[in-house]
Amino acid sequence: MNITTCDFEFEPHTVLPENEVHLWRVDLDSLRESESRWQKILSADESARASRFRFAIDRQRFVVSRGLLRTILGNYLAADPGSLTFSYSSKDKPSLAQPYSETGVCFNLSHSGTVVLLAFTRGRDVGVDVEQVRSDFDVAAIARRFFSRHEQKQLAALAKEKGFEAFFRCWTRKEAYIKATGDGLSLPLHQFDVSIAVGDEDALLATRPDAAESGLWSLREVPAGEGYVAALCVGGRDWKLRDWTSAPA
Ligand SMILES: CC(C)(COP(=O)(O)OP(=O)(O)OC[C@H]1O[C@@H](n2cnc3c(N)ncnc32)[C@H](O)[C@@H]1OP(=O)(O)O)[C@@H](O)C(=O)NCCC(=O)NCCS
Repeated sequence: MNITTCDFEFEPHTVLPENEVHLWRVDLDSLRESESRWQKILSADESARASRFRFAIDRQRFVVSRGLLRTILGNYLAADPGSLTFSYSSKDKPSLAQPYSETGVCFNLSHSGTVVLLAFTRGRDVGVDVEQVRSDFDVAAIARRFFSRHEQKQLAALAKEKGFEAFFRCWTRKEAYIKATGDGLSLPLHQFDVSIAVGDEDALLATRPDAAESGLWSLREVPAGEGYVAALCVGGRDWKLRDWTSAPA
């Protein structure tokens, strides 16, 4: 069975086992034209939020990515996507509300440029981040503001032309971790180190003051397409990744 929603067709993966992490990468531009149909499955508060975006492009990305999130979750839960409700932590991390909160299904999403990444787990915290690589800023200055000493040293050791992509590898890894914990920017960014090595599958190097915390998470680079970098952080180490890149039907 395939699911078709708003001109978007994908193979469903109805089973989300506890030892798997499912990662979906979707090109938002290919779906923006069907915004009005995605809009129909959003809740009243999501529609209100959509209407507050100043630029159409930001509204369309929000509507399509929320619509996708609902559609994929509905598939895992065998539920009507429009009937799902979310609750929000004090730091705004969304999660499934009743009656589906007890299924253990967790999710996180990230968008940048035309890409949205959606990650799904069962019984494990998850955070994902994608960024479009840019080169219009001062790497060292921004790194001083957001990165730990160890991360700044790793970056400074690189040739200048490699600095921008490495900066975003570092940024996405830090974001994925703070999104997985749910702390967001309330977690001091200097209190943990990530690696900037290409393709690293064990990128959380150190946590402070509790050094044992780093052993509780898996942090790795994930593919995001040309011109993008992305990272995924998941609670525990005994899981395997399954990923899909979806194109419109
Ligand atoms: C909000 C934040 C969690 C991510 O923001 P972002 O990178 O701008 O946006 P992303 O597209 O990656 O993620 C947004 C999604 O994360 C989810 N989210 C929101 N708050 C969250 C939280 N506290 N924890 C986890 N996920 C969260 C939501 O689903 C949101 O999607 P929505 O806007 O469609 O509702 C937060 O980390 C932030 O404000 N970052 C600002 C950037 C920064 O200074 N980063 C320093 C990194 S070194």
